[in-house]
Amino acid sequence: MDKYAVFGNPIAHSKSPHIHHAFAAQLGEQIEYQRILAPLDGFVDCVSEFFSQGGCGANVTLPFKEQAFALVDTLSERARLAGAVNTLILEEGGGLKGDNTDGIGLVSDLQRLSGSLAGKHVLLIGAGGAAKGAALPLLEAGIEQLHVVNRTEAKARLLVERISQYQNVSYGGLTGQNTQNWDIVINSTSSSVTKDLPGIDASYLEGTQLAYDMFYAEQATSFMSWACEVNPNITTADGLGMLVAQAAHAYKLWRGQMPECAPIIAALKEGRL
Ligand code: ATR
Repeated sequence: MDKYAVFGNPIAHSKSPHIHHAFAAQLGEQIEYQRILAPLDGFVDCVSEFFSQGGCGANVTLPFKEQAFALVDTLSERARLAGAVNTLILEEGGGLKGDNTDGIGLVSDLQRLSGSLAGKHVLLIGAGGAAKGAALPLLEAGIEQLHVVNRTEAKARLLVERISQYQNVSYGGLTGQNTQNWDIVINSTSSSVTKDLPGIDASYLEGTQLAYDMFYAEQATSFMSWACEVNPNITTADGLGMLVAQAAHAYKLWRGQMPECAPIIAALKEGRL
């Protein structure tokens, strides 16, 4: 049976094995997918051992995505721009290719919730690793405008400079009033981890249809609750769908078939998976 794994530390909480086994069942395939707890100083050795023992592909999660980026023989363009790798693909000659499906996973989930992203005005809050992975896939999906705001404005500027081939991208700090309509507002900061808010003014959400938090939890995140308070017409979503969709894109890279995400998201939400 083809063997896959996810490397992380900690890793016991990872839903990836359930998700990938559900994909395989959906497509009538059989795979083995396990969690591997890599020591903080032993990621590279763990990955080498896994592939030398017949591993076919792997996911990488915190805190190893940058180490995976440094480890691989070749990189996809989106992984290069993200500066991080979440998917390892075994190439025919035995080399490892690094890709990053987080951003395209976000795009797929936004499309599931909102339809085509063409023409949308998108506000991206945060300029850390998660935002770096999201920016290019959002632009490639045809959005009309991307505005990146971050607590540390200089980091938003650096992010935007990396995609300077796109004219429809701008940046700013978190302070100040909003002057535009943002169809989709994405929280890529880690503020919800501590039940904080990212710190934008409520005026940013006035004309917003979808407020999306990349973080997910059992209950609505602090950002989602706040968004509903300041704009009762808004739809909110957390990052569970993105988690499933990034996995689906990894599955496709390894095995050629794209699983359907919606039934797996529903099963996770209902506690059936
Ligand atoms: P990740 O890989 O999850 O994106 P990261 O690279 O450490 O993590 O980036 C964290 C992001 O969340 C940054 O944009 C950070 O803002 P700064 O660049 O100013 O540090 C943002 N962030 C974290 N906590 C925040 C908070 N309470 N309010 C606003 N922004 C926050």
